[in-house]
Amino acid sequence: MAKGLDVGTMNIISGKQDDNDTVFVQQRNSFVEIEHSDMAEQMLSRSDVLHIRKDDKVYVVGDDALNFANIFKQETRRPMQRGILSNDEKSAIPMIKLIIEQVAGEPDYPGEKIHFSTPADPIDSDLSTLYHQKTCESFLADMGYEPEPINEGMAVIYSELADNNFTGLGVSFGAGMTNICLAYYAVPVMTFSIARGGDWVDEQAARATGKPVDKVTSIKEDDFELDFKTDVGGVEGALAIYYENLLDYVIENIAREVDEEDVEEGLDVPVVVTGGTSSPDGFEKLFEDHLDESSLPFSVSGVTRADEPLYSVARGSLVAARSEEDRDKPQKSKPVKSSNSNGKGSKQASSNGNSSKGKTSKGKSSKQSSKKQSQ
Ligand SMILES: Nc1ncnc2c1ncn2[C@@H]1O[C@H](COP(=O)(O)OP(=O)(O)OP(=O)(O)O)[C@@H](O)[C@H]1O
Ligand SMILES: [Mg+2]
Repeated sequence: MAKGLDVGTMNIISGKQDDNDTVFVQQRNSFVEIEHSDMAEQMLSRSDVLHIRKDDKVYVVGDDALNFANIFKQETRRPMQRGILSNDEKSAIPMIKLIIEQVAGEPDYPGEKIHFSTPADPIDSDLSTLYHQKTCESFLADMGYEPEPINEGMAVIYSELADNNFTGLGVSFGAGMTNICLAYYAVPVMTFSIARGGDWVDEQAARATGKPVDKVTSIKEDDFELDFKTDVGGVEGALAIYYENLLDYVIENIAREVDEEDVEEGLDVPVVVTGGTSSPDGFEKLFEDHLDESSLPFSVSGVTRADEPLYSVARGSLVAARSEEDRDKPQKSKPVKSSNSNGKGSKQASSNGNSSKGKTSKGKSSKQSSKKQSQ
């Protein structure tokens, strides 16, 4: 069996096929450093909290980091920033390595294929994604996998546009980045990223209102809607303003890139939006309205949001990995479709198939979150 892995700025998620189900395992891509003490040692050794000890420090990693940060009055830290490994976080490498190992798990056999998502180089900053990509690749190879990078936008196409011959525009609105891919019969015509996403919205709204970023993020993730009816002057009002600004910025860049790529005129293209930042009610309507008002050289047949925005990229990476696995076994060369592209009939379950204490798509904190879906 092959696996898919979404290496995101906020969430790292693996997907694998288990009979007719897709099983997802998820951890928050963050950690907290606490002083080593006998009490901490005791608490941690009695639990299955993901942690490592180094000298007189203990690092609690993944979903539990936030709980420990609150208890020990510390800030959580992140191995990644703006879609790639952070260059001003000295502990980034060992922390993300631990999370990837836990989320991907051991390969079922040496050389098992795993497709992992990487962003396209951003067009609005001079960040390069190569170091990030090669580092993730080497972690996975050391674990015994045969890793293959997959562009994050292309993973969205594989996951969400199987019913449209893998043709359309996929946009993944993440935490650190927004990844865009226009594909025609599964061939990418245009892929790029911009170095703005949910984190940027949070930072801007926090700056505008003078509230802490963490507070703004939790208001946004709680029950914020893009209805533009409430809270002028408050946090929700500021969030709405920067959400709208992000969408316009994305559309502006799509128009510019499409022009440069010389995309065939007169195309009628379905658009799928996904990623955690696309979660608020009203998001796809707002995107569609702004696309309608823009002057793109192709027409948009409609905008839909993935049923489960947090899982699209892991699912698409899995589809790609399974397709390639199938190609390597010509006797079984039937086309592999997305396991559950409409996400219907999903249920919560642990990775071993027992009923779940895993997390919902909205992401309440839990230790190792896993989720299983019927095909
Ligand atoms: N219900 C929600 N409403 C609004 N925003 C949300 C919600 N849930 C999560 N988010 C936001 O979605 C982002 C995380 O989404 P996602 O997991 O798709 O990103 P990522 O893949 O980790 O990041 P990237 O692709 O940029 O590296 C964060 O900015 C988070 O605050
Ligand atoms: Mg992402």
